[in-house]
Amino acid sequence: MALRSLIFVSILFAAIAFPMAEAQLGIIGNLLGLLRIQGILYCTPTGNIGVNGTATPVFPNALVQLQCGDGNVVSSATTNASGLFSMLLDPLNFLLSTLLSNCKLVVGTPLATCNASLPSIGTLESTLKFIGNTLLGILNVGNIIPTGFQLIPV
Ligand SMILES: *[C@@H]1O[C@H](CO)[C@@H](O)[C@H](O)[C@H]1NC(C)=O
Ligand SMILES: *[C@@H]1O[C@H](CO)[C@@H](O)[C@H](O)[C@H]1NC(C)=O
Ligand SMILES: *[C@@H]1O[C@H](CO)[C@@H](O)[C@H](O)[C@H]1NC(C)=O
Repeated sequence: MALRSLIFVSILFAAIAFPMAEAQLGIIGNLLGLLRIQGILYCTPTGNIGVNGTATPVFPNALVQLQCGDGNVVSSATTNASGLFSMLLDPLNFLLSTLLSNCKLVVGTPLATCNASLPSIGTLESTLKFIGNTLLGILNVGNIIPTGFQLIPV
């Protein structure tokens, strides 16, 4: 009799415990997630890669800002010698859908800084797009890239 009720309790517990464990894993998965905005800025009239592909000169030491809503700067990065910039965001503070619909990358450094023959006024801007997740160890990284820069005149 005692054994029977023990088995019953065990089965009951397993039935309750399993969905709970799954739900908890989901929460932990979100906690260990990151959003990464990454791209390469090129030293061209548009900031994008040119017809010569990877031979296109890059734009190093450029300030790249993430601006949301009415131009609030929520993150920033500087391009390295390869023209690469990277920003990491906590997905608990940023909703992916809001980032994609409400935020943009704005380059604060004038294009003429990398090549004097390029415009010294106007800013390069790009909206964002999500290209999928990659697993980096236990981190689930959501990858976001610029859709393509364009020169916005002032
Ligand atoms: C692409 O490369 C060719 C050959 O080196 C060069 O003549 C041309 O100016 C380059 N185009 C651009 C846009 O850099
Ligand atoms: C720029 O950063 C990327 C990513 O961290 C790295 O792979 C690359 O080597 C860096 N370039 C230079 C010239 O430091
Ligand atoms: C600057 O841009 C001009 C015109 O596109 C190009 O001919 C020149 O090679 C560039 N200079 C450098 C240092 O990239």
